Amino acid sequence: MTGQDQTIVHDVPVNVAQQPNPYPLFERIREHGVVQRVRLNPTLEVWMVTGYDEAVAALTDPRLSSSPVGVNGLEEEMAHQERTNVLMASMLVANGEDHTRLRNLVSKAFTFRRVEQMAPRVQAHTDAFIDAFATRGSADLVSEFALPLPMAVLSELIGIPAEGQPDFARLAVGLIMPPNTPERLAKGAQARAELAEFFLPLIAQRKADPKDDLLSALCAAQAEERISDRELTAMTILLTLAGHETTASLIANGVHALLRHPEQFAALRDDPSLLPGAIEELLRYEGPVSRGVARFTVDDYEIGGVTVPAGEMIIIGLAAANRDPARYDRADILDIARREVPQQLAFGHGVHFCLGAPLARAEARIAIGTLLRRFPDLRLADPDADLSRREGILRGMATLPVAFTPEG
Ligand code: HEM
Repeated sequence: MTGQDQTIVHDVPVNVAQQPNPYPLFERIREHGVVQRVRLNPTLEVWMVTGYDEAVAALTDPRLSSSPVGVNGLEEEMAHQERTNVLMASMLVANGEDHTRLRNLVSKAFTFRRVEQMAPRVQAHTDAFIDAFATRGSADLVSEFALPLPMAVLSELIGIPAEGQPDFARLAVGLIMPPNTPERLAKGAQARAELAEFFLPLIAQRKADPKDDLLSALCAAQAEERISDRELTAMTILLTLAGHETTASLIANGVHALLRHPEQFAALRDDPSLLPGAIEELLRYEGPVSRGVARFTVDDYEIGGVTVPAGEMIIIGLAAANRDPARYDRADILDIARREVPQQLAFGHGVHFCLGAPLARAEARIAIGTLLRRFPDLRLADPDADLSRREGILRGMATLPVAFTPEG
């Protein structure tokens, strides 16, 4: 370790995303330097990037690996993960040609045009979930709206038949497991195994009788040997994991932030043309992947004035970078009319940039836009509701109780 005060190791608790306000901690770390040594738990010290420019540099640098295999101190854990965690065969942890091959297999499903074609279905699901509580005058926006909406959209995209959707939803929620105790690691493994089992008969069906869905496209790719059995399973689980809790958190965190800032809520309600910019600002201000994404050094690596040795983990703090005062004026202020560059980093950056970003943006735009149109006096039923109540990997809410004038 060189180039910085070696005595400073900042503690970043595993549940940092669930703290009501983790941003002062990120700020304190950044005050010591934009790349710092942090302790994630008593046995794991890693590096954390909190500066915007350094985050972009790291996310676009091909010298950093996305695969944790071979990282100092994680050898045993990784050998175990390789055996038990099928996600180790997913594009998320792949590099180079393997990554490109896996990503190309599904990227067509997420183009801007494909997503625009899906918009009427997203709107139909949005209306149906809202209809179910609109005359009641109150709702829990997490369990009745923000969580089931992305599940419904994902089910259609992948090609889960209607009768399988409740099971799919139950198994998908089981994937949301912070891997911080042996029990939770075991539960996470169990959830992935059950979801893989769930997909087996469906994959067999699609091979025999292809349809116009993502699963059929993946089965066709497998027939041409462009994707292995394990990679196919990994892909279905990755899409499930990456596609629902994230979007649910964007919608719930976003509505919560607007309700906590009534003047911003009113401005957006009164001028829906602000919606696309507002979604970007909500992603910047309260993005779901709050602690950040991991990269791994293969050789010694210079960044932000420090040299990170080979075989180390670097956490690229997306939420910290999104509030870097060197990049954003009034970084801690929510301003939906902000026209500032640079682009927020909640979806990452570079070759692993979120594949589902166009879909997530469309879902959030439709979901939040429809809520504001139908419930102009939407308000928090529990003024103390905050983002600290969730036991998940991401920054999100367990419940979001709201009240409004009932329709009809
Ligand atoms: C990758 C965030 C929604 C699928 C990522 C990454 C981030 C992210 C930060 C980069 C990971 C890295 O660099 O290591 C989000 C957020 C979402 C969201 C904040 C919602 C607000 C979705 C949706 C889908 C999806 C709806 C699909 C249905 C993926 C996939 C990757 C990915 C497949 C891996 C891309 C690759 O490795 O090349 N996402 N995501 N995401 N996301 Fe999303």
